[in-house]
Amino acid sequence: ACDEIILAIETSCDETSAAVVRGGREILSNIISSQIETHKQFGGVVPEIASRQHVESITLIMEEAVHKAGITLADIDAVAVTQGPGLVGALLVGLVAAKSLAMALDVPLIGTHHIAGHIYANKLVHTMVYPSVALVVSGGHTELVVLEQEGSFRIIGRTRDDAVGEAYDKVARSLKFPYPGGPHVDKLAQSAEEALPLPRAWLEPDSYDFSFSGLKSAVLAAINQANMKGLMLDPATLARGFQESVIEVLVEKAIRAVHAYDAKQLLLCGGVAANGGLRAALQARCDEENVPLLIPPMSLCTDNAAMIAAAAHLKWERGQFSELDMKADPMLSL
Ligand code: KG4
Ligand code: ZN
Repeated sequence: ACDEIILAIETSCDETSAAVVRGGREILSNIISSQIETHKQFGGVVPEIASRQHVESITLIMEEAVHKAGITLADIDAVAVTQGPGLVGALLVGLVAAKSLAMALDVPLIGTHHIAGHIYANKLVHTMVYPSVALVVSGGHTELVVLEQEGSFRIIGRTRDDAVGEAYDKVARSLKFPYPGGPHVDKLAQSAEEALPLPRAWLEPDSYDFSFSGLKSAVLAAINQANMKGLMLDPATLARGFQESVIEVLVEKAIRAVHAYDAKQLLLCGGVAANGGLRAALQARCDEENVPLLIPPMSLCTDNAAMIAAAAHLKWERGQFSELDMKADPMLSL
């Protein structure tokens, strides 16, 4: 067994994070600095501002991660960093910090895929077996991924337009909630007694892809129509209708993939895994179908560097290191 110490950095979007993880499993520290308060006033993440905030925070966050872990720099065996996907300017800040540290300490650099991180967040708390299927849902991603064995990823379905979290945030904005609105819509939906009937985007019968922009438009149309007619549209009924439509499609396609690929586990990961309705519906369906469902604790579902260390650990074991001239790749494929 390896009990190497990896210092990992994650700066792909609006969280500046650094973590120290031993042996791919033991989290010694996982420091996360969120920029939400800064971006809130603009109703979403402003890339240029995100980059600048990463520059301001990264050194402090790294120092804090080392300090909280109770290690010295000399204890670090490798430096891991998110190479992509994400905002290019934001990724660059993490990459420069990681390269500098790896060079100064003369230890390997390990470039990591952000989604591999979300998936392998599960390994920090659960035992993963293969084959398995992961449903990755966040503000930037909606993917169904088949893991035939450790470290192998095959994306079988993805969103053709908005990511789930993005659709939540847009619907939330039309209901006048602040950014990020996902949790507000979730809460409102759970308080509703009825659901406004809205369409489900199944796409082609055998497709594992998703689409949420039509649903989002249907929500906006319902709001506009009610306004024009001077009618009161109950926001809770609307939120519940939206949420039910999203969840039904996510659950159905995930379960279909589990059976089609003989998966021994279903993994739910990414920020939208916080959604109470989604967790409950997926758990109920998995119980019915005898499919073990793994969900990391919330602190490991949203963007954090410990998950990047967990994914990097697999590469460490195989000696898959990156060159010091590794480039940030906003469209990096899994
Ligand atoms: O994984 P994450 O922290 O960042 C990305 O990599 O995107 O996910 C953030 C997204 C936001 O769009 C936020 O609105 C959404 O996750 N989210 C939720 C809930 N909590 C967070 N969406 C629906 N219901 C929730 N309870
Ligand atoms: Zn993410």
